[in-house]
Amino acid sequence: MLQGKKILVGVCGSIAAYKSALLIRLLVKEGAEVRVVMTPSAASFITPLTLATLAKHPVYSEYFNEANGTWHNHVELGLWADLMVLAPLSANTLGKLANGLCDNLLCAVYLSARCPVYVAPAMDLDMYAHASTQANLQALLSYGNRVIDAESGELASGLDGKGRMAEPEHIVQAIQAHFAAERGTLKGKRVIITAGPTYEPLDPVRFIGNHSSGKMGYAIAEVMAGYGAEVTLIAGPTSLPDPPGIKCVHVMSALEMHASALALFPTTDIAVLAAAVADYRPATVAEQKIKKSEDEFTLTLTKNPDIAKDLGSRKEVGQLLVGFALETNNGLENAQGKLEKKNLDFIVLNSPSDEGTGFGHDTNRITILARNTKPKEFELKSKKAIAQDIVNEITTYLDR
Ligand code: PMT
Repeated sequence: MLQGKKILVGVCGSIAAYKSALLIRLLVKEGAEVRVVMTPSAASFITPLTLATLAKHPVYSEYFNEANGTWHNHVELGLWADLMVLAPLSANTLGKLANGLCDNLLCAVYLSARCPVYVAPAMDLDMYAHASTQANLQALLSYGNRVIDAESGELASGLDGKGRMAEPEHIVQAIQAHFAAERGTLKGKRVIITAGPTYEPLDPVRFIGNHSSGKMGYAIAEVMAGYGAEVTLIAGPTSLPDPPGIKCVHVMSALEMHASALALFPTTDIAVLAAAVADYRPATVAEQKIKKSEDEFTLTLTKNPDIAKDLGSRKEVGQLLVGFALETNNGLENAQGKLEKKNLDFIVLNSPSDEGTGFGHDTNRITILARNTKPKEFELKSKKAIAQDIVNEITTYLDR
């Protein structure tokens, strides 16, 4: 997906510099042409020889090449690149870039670059949280640079928290998403996404609901909009703000979500159904608040329409339907059954029994099942990164 793209990797002095080797290897594997520029202190953490070997090109770190009397032209390097990524970006270099300081080749290349610049900061958790670091990151954002947020986990100091450089795979995904958006991969595609829970009213003050936060569906909506799609998000009740640039239809119950989805589907190219829709609703909704009287209270429920199934039965050639399966047991078997029964093209299986997955979490672990292919497993990662994986599967499918 990065065939022929010219990518300039900037490496700063940080223990996370060892991960830049993997980043370069992944970029080259994806077909990118890679050049590397290092700060002088980065060489204390990883040898230029390692990075040069992986990039298949000598590494730049000094203005002058004493051996042959030439100098490295920072302007040329900055103009050569389609995209520059600084990974890891240390607190020190971040401070310099935020303030326009230029005491090494990497800073000069950054200042000369006309291409989009991504930065992946790496530092200890307190350094990362410090007001000056956050202000410097805001400064980079205000210059139009993009920040690939640090991730949480064990740090070199032995502390645990936010500050780890994003995993190289996640940085590559962000770069892929950048070029996909630039190409407008989903430009002109009309997409509907269902997200969040549904609330099934029982009386004016009570409902039956579930713990879906909407994070998964919202993340997919944002990635698809970034790829140029015209997205309508049909959202059950969530506390998430409306994502900018995305049309949001707010609904409460399964019946409302069903009506909205069916109305939009005839003019939809891709539908992704990430909502946790209640399968049943109270058969009657009391007009007044139900009073506490008997020791036991029996509730009669009636079946809700199945949005996925109803869209599946109306699906026409050229429309793509992606569902989710939330399974606590026999995941693959149940998901496969839903894929067929609901006439889906893909189904994304996740299980609330796995740690860090399902309702409410910022992370998820999924397996994608499609017709006549082997299930594809993805590791635990942020819902944003998972959304990117799902959208990449969709674009690959459309490109076939
Ligand atoms: O919102 P988050 O907190 O981020 O959590 C994300 C999630 C766990 C809700 C999401 O990843 C997820 O799994 N969504 C689907 C949950 C679900 O209801 O799964 P299901 O196996 O019961 O349903 C199968 C499919 O049919 C789903 O695409 C569902 O949207 C759809 N469905 C189900 C019932 C119904 N009446 N209508 C439907 O369209």
